Amino acid sequence: MAGNAANLRLFLIGPMGSGKSTVGRHLSDLLDCPFIDSDAEIESRAGADIPWIFDVEGEAGFRRRETTVLKDLVEHPAAVIATGGGAILAAENREMIARSGVVVFLNVSVSQQLKRTGSGEGRPLLQRRDREETLNQLMAEREPLYRALADVIISAGGGNARKVARQIEAVLRERGLIPHHDGE
Ligand code: S3P
Repeated sequence: MAGNAANLRLFLIGPMGSGKSTVGRHLSDLLDCPFIDSDAEIESRAGADIPWIFDVEGEAGFRRRETTVLKDLVEHPAAVIATGGGAILAAENREMIARSGVVVFLNVSVSQQLKRTGSGEGRPLLQRRDREETLNQLMAEREPLYRALADVIISAGGGNARKVARQIEAVLRERGLIPHHDGE
């Protein structure tokens, strides 16, 4: 049987390229609950992709949409929810997330982020000449926020998303957030 996380709402937070969506999909399989990607939800409601939203409405417009979507997602019964890298910037978002579920921070180094985000396609904040400098700046500003919000911090740089998902599942079990398997 899968993880039986009937009442668990789990938020994955972390920077761009930390694997929130990939790990989230594996974790939702393991826990047998739906997977929701906040960025995908924003795009589907807008009927447009994230680069378009940034172009037309600016980052502020995107952040407004992000908060609106989060307001609904924090009400979702049980799910693994991948948030965007900047979802933790607004205090309002952090408060909603903190009071609505278990928060897992996928921690990766900037060099790992650089490898995983490639040319930065689809990520407006990475459309700059010096992506490494940008990622370093974003990490310096955001890492304290990720850490403060996290219930669980997982080193997610190893590259194997399924293994990372299993590690998260194990920590959730250890902490009694999902039941232990019978006979274990
Ligand atoms: C952003 C991260 C992106 C997306 C948007 C802004 C950020 O999500 O929400 O481009 O501010 O770090 P991912 O973390 O899934 O790439």
